[in-house]
Amino acid sequence: MKIAVTSASGKLGASIVKQLVREIGKDQVIGIARTPEKAEHLGVEIRKGDYNDREQLDQALKGIDTVLLVSGMDEPQKRIQQHRNVIEAAKQNGAKKIVYTSIIGDEKNTAFSPIVASNRQTEKDVQASGLQWVIGRNGIYIEPDIEYISHYIEEGGIRNCAGEGKCAYTSREELSQAYAQMLLHEKHNGQVYNLAGDPITQAELANIINKVYGTSLSYYPVSVAAYQKERKEALGDFIGTVIAGIYEGIQIGANNVQSDFEKATGRAHKAPLAMIEELKDILK
Ligand SMILES: NC(=O)c1ccc[n+]([C@@H]2O[C@H](COP(=O)([O-])OP(=O)(O)OC[C@H]3O[C@@H](n4cnc5c(N)ncnc54)[C@H](OP(=O)(O)O)[C@@H]3O)[C@@H](O)[C@H]2O)c1
Repeated sequence: MKIAVTSASGKLGASIVKQLVREIGKDQVIGIARTPEKAEHLGVEIRKGDYNDREQLDQALKGIDTVLLVSGMDEPQKRIQQHRNVIEAAKQNGAKKIVYTSIIGDEKNTAFSPIVASNRQTEKDVQASGLQWVIGRNGIYIEPDIEYISHYIEEGGIRNCAGEGKCAYTSREELSQAYAQMLLHEKHNGQVYNLAGDPITQAELANIINKVYGTSLSYYPVSVAAYQKERKEALGDFIGTVIAGIYEGIQIGANNVQSDFEKATGRAHKAPLAMIEELKDILK
């Protein structure tokens, strides 16, 4: 059985490739990458595949049985067609199964909702493809918060518009273990899984970081409008709006979800404290 992982040059795709190699060896795993040279270190066959290039995807997916489609990074409307290019190329080449990395979140009420809605459209496209399918809805990665700790210290704490809302975080490492199982085992076919850990507030996140890093961060809630304004000034309109929309989603409860991680992996998701302790060693 040959399994292809798209966006293998990215952090999630690479992590899934590595997990699959641990499970089934490198001969059955193929990485698809828009920038192949960034994925060569993975030690598996790498084929070129840009989501915008249907012909390239047709070549890339030759002889593949199962495809892992990592959601793209483009603006929402472009993503839908990009994902369709992968789904159609998978079908045309006789793949039997597709697994899609979607996202947990609100589809209507925040500035992040257009991205969530585009992911939901791809979920529908995957479900209508005629292939066997499994969908994972990923929680928010915890890694960016850990990578940002020095800024939190400079800024005197964690500041955003999540308020008292709880967020079920995950990590790429946890996700890669879930996706490997979802790719390899038929019992997951036809399932939509929320992939995340126990939900925590931003104040709880600050406390856990303090415990692991010996910092003394506090949490400072700000309004959605104020946070969006400052993020747009710092990061530009598109990313600034997206980031503010993510925290707005947390505030309204969109990330306070029941996890299906155990159904996917047979074990509980790691607790936020354990994830952050591990990341402290990895992200030194
Ligand atoms: N759950 C979360 O908190 C969260 C946070 C951020 C993003 N995401 C989503 O999760 C996905 C994976 O995250 P990540 O951590 O792996 O992100 P990442 O490390 O930034 O990687 C993004 C990947 O997308 C690829 N890509 C972008 N446009 C493409 C195109 N037109 N055709 C083919 N590949 C393309 C990039 O290829 P190149 O190497 O060629 O640039 C790269 O491999 C993201 O794409 C995004 O949809 C989720």
